[in-house]
Amino acid sequence: MERPYILHMFSPTRQASPFDVNMAADAGYQIIVPYCDLALDGVAALTQDAIFSRGPKGVARTGIFVGGRDALLAADMLERCRASMVKPFVVSAMADPSGAYTTAAAMVACVEAALKRASGAGLQGKRVVVLGGTGPVGRIAGVLAAQAGAEVFLSSRAGADAAEQAAQATGRRFGVTLHGASGADRAAVRASIADTEIVLACAAAGVQVLSAEDLGHANRLAVAADINAVPPEGIAGVGVMDDGKPVAGTQALGIGALAVGNVKYQTQHRLLLRMIQAEKPQLLSFAEAFAMAREVLAAG
Ligand SMILES: NC(=O)c1ccc[n+]([C@@H]2O[C@H](COP(=O)([O-])OP(=O)(O)OC[C@H]3O[C@@H](n4cnc5c(N)ncnc54)[C@H](OP(=O)(O)O)[C@@H]3O)[C@@H](O)[C@H]2O)c1
Repeated sequence: MERPYILHMFSPTRQASPFDVNMAADAGYQIIVPYCDLALDGVAALTQDAIFSRGPKGVARTGIFVGGRDALLAADMLERCRASMVKPFVVSAMADPSGAYTTAAAMVACVEAALKRASGAGLQGKRVVVLGGTGPVGRIAGVLAAQAGAEVFLSSRAGADAAEQAAQATGRRFGVTLHGASGADRAAVRASIADTEIVLACAAAGVQVLSAEDLGHANRLAVAADINAVPPEGIAGVGVMDDGKPVAGTQALGIGALAVGNVKYQTQHRLLLRMIQAEKPQLLSFAEAFAMAREVLAAG
């Protein structure tokens, strides 16, 4: 009998994500086992427990998926998985906490593609404000935009200090420069977007972070991208299906949550497939997700 494909799902939260369980099954994993409430210092022992039992052939049919809700902790856990493996017992491992890595990758890739279609230029030198920038999606979208050469500001309702703290911690962890911006009230949000070319709306589901009136203050806006699929729209006038559609009353192009979600879905699916199909073990974080999202878009 062929050995089954097994995915061990490590999560620091109380539950693993049903979304990720479905995605893993649809990619071909046959046995999916969640390990919840896991601390960073528990990762090495679990990883070694997972790799040694199946022999060098079996490791190709064994994978680890790191979930949870914390974008920085997931990166640490993935790194701990990698460091705990002993050759030749090396299995593929992927992190995507709360979908943040694949979602942020899809969002930034969609923005980049819209910019390139409109002007031929990418994110290099652009000013980017991430509303809801302290959440897992917002932080990683900020990191990816900064890695692509943008000047990035993570915004928080809790004010400038809290935003700066999140920006510093995230930037330090991933080796990029991020800034904080206050989103404490309408005046602060409007000031933050006044001179901004790109807005990434990454706040909690079902919250409108920019009204039509707010958008009137964004005089240089080129792209407004919204990741919230739950009504009302995160950015007024950006429909969930929009993919580069002009936003009424502005000169910006809008990208909506389902346009991003489609690329996110394909990105996560293909990364999981790669874990199963690749001849060599894969280590998949948000950089690989971003490369995959670009591939998905390039393939049309
Ligand atoms: N389309 C897709 O494929 C897809 C996939 C995954 C996630 N998502 C969406 O992506 C978004 C971000 O996900 P996430 O997990 O990073 O979100 P999250 O952690 O729930 O929220 C992100 C940030 O939003 C801010 N926030 C919370 N409540 C708010 C409110 N009432 N008004 C304004 N800001 C508020 C908070 O920052 P401060 O308190 O610091 O301001 C929080 O850190 C969500 O809308 C989620 O549904 C979409």
